[in-house]
Amino acid sequence: MIIAPSLLASDFSRFGKEAERAAKSGADWLHLDIMDGQFVPNISFGPAVVQAVRPHAKNMFFDVHLMCGQPEILLEPFVKAGADQLIVHVELGDKVPQLLWKIKSLGKKVGLAINPPTAITEMQPYLDKIDMLLVMTVNPGFGGQSFIHECLPKIQQAEAWRRERKLNYRIEVDGGINNQTAAECARAGADTFVAGTSLFGARSLKSAVTKMRKIVNGCDPGLADLLI
Ligand code: DX5
Ligand code: ZN
Repeated sequence: MIIAPSLLASDFSRFGKEAERAAKSGADWLHLDIMDGQFVPNISFGPAVVQAVRPHAKNMFFDVHLMCGQPEILLEPFVKAGADQLIVHVELGDKVPQLLWKIKSLGKKVGLAINPPTAITEMQPYLDKIDMLLVMTVNPGFGGQSFIHECLPKIQQAEAWRRERKLNYRIEVDGGINNQTAAECARAGADTFVAGTSLFGARSLKSAVTKMRKIVNGCDPGLADLLI
């Protein structure tokens, strides 16, 4: 089980210190949300910020989520900035195969995300080409939104495909994840949990990460049928 605090919910005036806090919290990954004001109605930060943050969390895995209409122009800059995984969106349609190939050829882990309104079947052609499948559990663009429960069956489907086809992509969830919704996602088959507000907003980031890890580790995916 991987816990990935999202820097989007940290104090923007002290990214370096916030990344250090995440690194010391026991979290495995740092999730970095890149918004271009086109694919989503918000702008966050770019490769220069990621590069500046990188030395503050040397041993963390940098999970870079590109909510961008033209990710092709950003892949190399984010690799240079220190990304370990690049996530693009399946909603980009015809561009997707080329983007996945390009990320792999840059030697980085390949992530593919799906928004709440998009059918999970859109992911089917790419299942054997990805290292991680990201089920968005809010409409992307802003932190602090409420978890959309209708997304849970998508996690179950992604988990069923992984089992049936003997694949080993991770299943990540992102948006409105707190201890309760993380547990629901874990029971449905998720193994990677992005959380912004619930972790960075906690009094102690370290205790919040420890608690979330304990909760998701105690969830049995076999109970998914009882849950949904
Ligand atoms: C939403 C982003 C998320 C965001 C989650 O567009 O992709 O990663 O940081 O924030 P919370 O956990 O506050 O919903
Ligand atoms: Zn994200």
